[in-house]
Amino acid sequence: MPEAAEDPHVAVAAAVADHVVDPVGNEDVDWDLFDSQAYFAHNYGTLRWDDAAIIKIIADFFGASLPDKFIGHAIDVGSGTNFYPALAMLPYSFRVTLFERAYSNREWLSHSLEQPQSSWSDFWAEIASGRRHYDRITRPLELLADRAEVTKGNVFDLRPNRYNLGTMFFVAESITTRDDEFRRATRLFVDSLVSGAPFAAAFMRNSSGYFVGNKRFPACSVSEEDIREALDPVARRLEIQTVASDDLRDGYCGMMVATGRKK
Ligand SMILES: C[S@@+](CC[C@H](N)C(=O)[O-])C[C@H]1O[C@@H](n2cnc3c(N)ncnc32)[C@H](O)[C@@H]1O
Repeated sequence: MPEAAEDPHVAVAAAVADHVVDPVGNEDVDWDLFDSQAYFAHNYGTLRWDDAAIIKIIADFFGASLPDKFIGHAIDVGSGTNFYPALAMLPYSFRVTLFERAYSNREWLSHSLEQPQSSWSDFWAEIASGRRHYDRITRPLELLADRAEVTKGNVFDLRPNRYNLGTMFFVAESITTRDDEFRRATRLFVDSLVSGAPFAAAFMRNSSGYFVGNKRFPACSVSEEDIREALDPVARRLEIQTVASDDLRDGYCGMMVATGRKK
């Protein structure tokens, strides 16, 4: 067993406590070192109750916001190894762009679309349960593989007015320690949608950073107020809900889900 001083978790916690950590911008991180397998196993190998609570919020929201025959181009920004935001947009999308910066995650996404992990069936069951737009889809993971397009992309390069619905989960606050980058990523995501388009975005509350495998990644500590301030210029009908979480995710003080429409 390593000595406490050698343990990277302990060393980083001590540095944070001493306020000696310099700001880490999105460009300062080698995102290609993101360990997709470790992240998937830690977060999405089984359906957890906090994700089930988020699923209820977003599936009910998209169901209530979009008419029966609506079909558009969806985007999920910073997909990582998470298919459930894309699955929640599936009934309303002829294409779902999985927009991801890290090569490792793009490889994981492409491979997993072809051979999905068994846990996604449990996520789908949660999404579809009692929701008519969803439960008429009989082979969701095959349909997702048909409609998904894994795309190399950087949230800071998103162009305005492109997509008809969108999701961005644990990205804007989990790719930088810088407040200005958190706000810019949040606004650019919503601005990439056409006017009136519905969106859902999830955020960790008060995160101080997180480990994926042995590598630490930066986070920006945000509150409900910070999210509201970031979204106000670009969103209307904004609602922010807090979801309690357990201690499986680092930097946990609960999670927040924002829904609304682009102005
Ligand atoms: C904490 S993970 C969240 C992954 C996933 N959305 C989820 O719900 O678990 C942050 C993701 O953002 C991606 N990312 C980092 N910088 C990015 C950028 N500038 N543009 C787009 N994605 C980025 C990372 O590669 C990673 O997949």
